[in-house]
Amino acid sequence: MSAGLEGIVAGRTSLSTVGIEGCGLTYRGYSIEDLSEQATFEEVAWLLLRGELPNQTQLDQYRKTLCGLRRLPNELKVILEQIPGTSHPMDVLRTGCSALGCMEPEGPGQGPLELADRLIGAFPSMLMYWHWFHTAGKRIETDCDANSVAGHILSLLHGRAPTEIHERVMDVALILYAEHEFNASTFTARVVTSTLSDFYSAITAAIGTLRGPLHGGANEAAFELIDRYTTPDEAEQGVMELLRKKAKIMGFGHRVYRSADPRSDVIQVWAAQLAKAVGDTRLYPVSERVEAVMRREKRLFPNLDFYSASAFHFLGIPTLFFTPLFVFSRISGWAAHVIEQRTDNRLIRPTADYVGPAPRPFLPLSNR
Ligand code: COA
Repeated sequence: MSAGLEGIVAGRTSLSTVGIEGCGLTYRGYSIEDLSEQATFEEVAWLLLRGELPNQTQLDQYRKTLCGLRRLPNELKVILEQIPGTSHPMDVLRTGCSALGCMEPEGPGQGPLELADRLIGAFPSMLMYWHWFHTAGKRIETDCDANSVAGHILSLLHGRAPTEIHERVMDVALILYAEHEFNASTFTARVVTSTLSDFYSAITAAIGTLRGPLHGGANEAAFELIDRYTTPDEAEQGVMELLRKKAKIMGFGHRVYRSADPRSDVIQVWAAQLAKAVGDTRLYPVSERVEAVMRREKRLFPNLDFYSASAFHFLGIPTLFFTPLFVFSRISGWAAHVIEQRTDNRLIRPTADYVGPAPRPFLPLSNR
């Protein structure tokens, strides 16, 4: 038995290589370094969902298609208005996804490719509609002028077009978060798919899985940690204390990577640049010290979530929206896995070591 299925090969994928020696992290053969430097999220989503990078005509058309998928049905807006303003944004997305599945169900002409595009267009709209309704009583228009997913997110959130650099950082984050092999939420989506269930059920279950702090929720928890400290020395003391108490420091370590997460280097560069641009003298130095302490004390390295947390903060994203950003991107990877699972499906149904009582006679109610 392997606790947590560690080291178990649970299927095949042609979508990404995570930590395979000599490959690092690639999406359909393209390195994460090249993609995050030279591609946009729309190209990456197309690549994951359709197998190859789009040409210019395909990309232009794809951007238009996604822009046309941002509107929400009125029935969904009503539901978003009914969800309490105090709910966790991940619960809002989970409910929004499930509700849209009742209104625009999977069916002929509405397969996983169309639905993946629909959710890429609609997820940011759902969250921002709910957000503005409950914080300002506004029923916002969920479309905007931006022709990128990154621009859509930032424009709806801030009510104005983002700067070029902010849009690029968001775009890079979306690229880095798009796909990661058999992580817990993707595996969940594949398990659901393996029962021949529908697309929305797979994605709704994946959102619930991503919410936990050992997975996507780590970026929120990482920010809460660094935001506690005012100086690097204070952070060092605080983290040492947490380690003494055997606490986990969110944003560090990984089940598959052993010495580094290649995505962390990419986002760290952008976090540093944003820190400089906003004149930050606290969060970034605190992050660097936490990283140094974790390397020294535990030989642990930051994963994507650690420096994403400060990058998102510098982009003006509320902390509770960090994990939803992961959803806005990972929908592309989840959907690609749903499609892949369906092409060669077998019910995913492992077995367990039984450790319960030995067989025993039934106890009638009167004898208990
Ligand atoms: N902080 C402190 N210690 C950590 C740690 C962390 N972030 N990550 C791992 N460790 C330690 C564990 O305490 C354990 O030590 P022990 O053997 O002395 O008990 C050892 O490293 C192995 O940890 P374990 O949790 O069994 O490894 P795993 O493969 O199950 O965990 C993660 C992988 C990602 C769940 C784990 O590293 C973690 O919880 N990280 C924080 C959450 C996070 O950032 N998640 C996002 C992942 S992208």
